[in-house]
Amino acid sequence: MAQTQKLKILYNLYQQQWLGETYMNPITLKQPSHDKLPDDLEELRKIVLSCHLCDLSKTRKNVVFGEGNPHAKLMFVGEGPGATEDETGRPFVGRAGQLLTKMIENVLEISRSDVFIANIVKCRPPNNRVPTPEEVSKCIPYLFKQIEIINPKIIVALGSTSYKHLTGDNTPISKIRGEVIQFRNRILIPTFHPSFLLRNPSKKKEAYQDLLKIKELLCEIS
Ligand code: URA
Repeated sequence: MAQTQKLKILYNLYQQQWLGETYMNPITLKQPSHDKLPDDLEELRKIVLSCHLCDLSKTRKNVVFGEGNPHAKLMFVGEGPGATEDETGRPFVGRAGQLLTKMIENVLEISRSDVFIANIVKCRPPNNRVPTPEEVSKCIPYLFKQIEIINPKIIVALGSTSYKHLTGDNTPISKIRGEVIQFRNRILIPTFHPSFLLRNPSKKKEAYQDLLKIKELLCEIS
């Protein structure tokens, strides 16, 4: 919501209070039902950009809808926007994003613009904390709709938060990474999150193996 709009609402509320009103019926914000979301990516984007269903909308600068090829065969799903993503409204453009771009372009040998990149939550959790189950439950219908519309053949879950919320499985990422999992009529491969790889460079070898597997699967389906 624009700052001027917020100020207008606040002004009206103060006016009501001054006129003697002391109580307002609480407004219930409905959770987006997956079935009711539009089948068109641009229509969906408009809805997501004006979402206020959780508290992350109060602290965000920009909603990070996701970007890339709307017909991508390969989709990456991260956890949630960080500071640079919040500033720019684009996914994976900070340090972790630069590493992800290298993973895509140097190992998979495809252009970043040929894949679609999204997140479990579309707004930045303050101080980059892990999104709460409440925040995820409000936001994840948008991701599932994105998956349905884009219809990628392969989804790469980046890190444990992404894997857990996509599949409902709590297996640690270190145990499940590199596995080829059947998921909603497509393939899901979990691997380490690029931020984790920046903190633990020795794990890049394993991530590299996962990427080679993804590359092989991509060749098979093309
Ligand atoms: N980390 C994420 O999980 N997503 C982004 O978009 C950026 C960093």
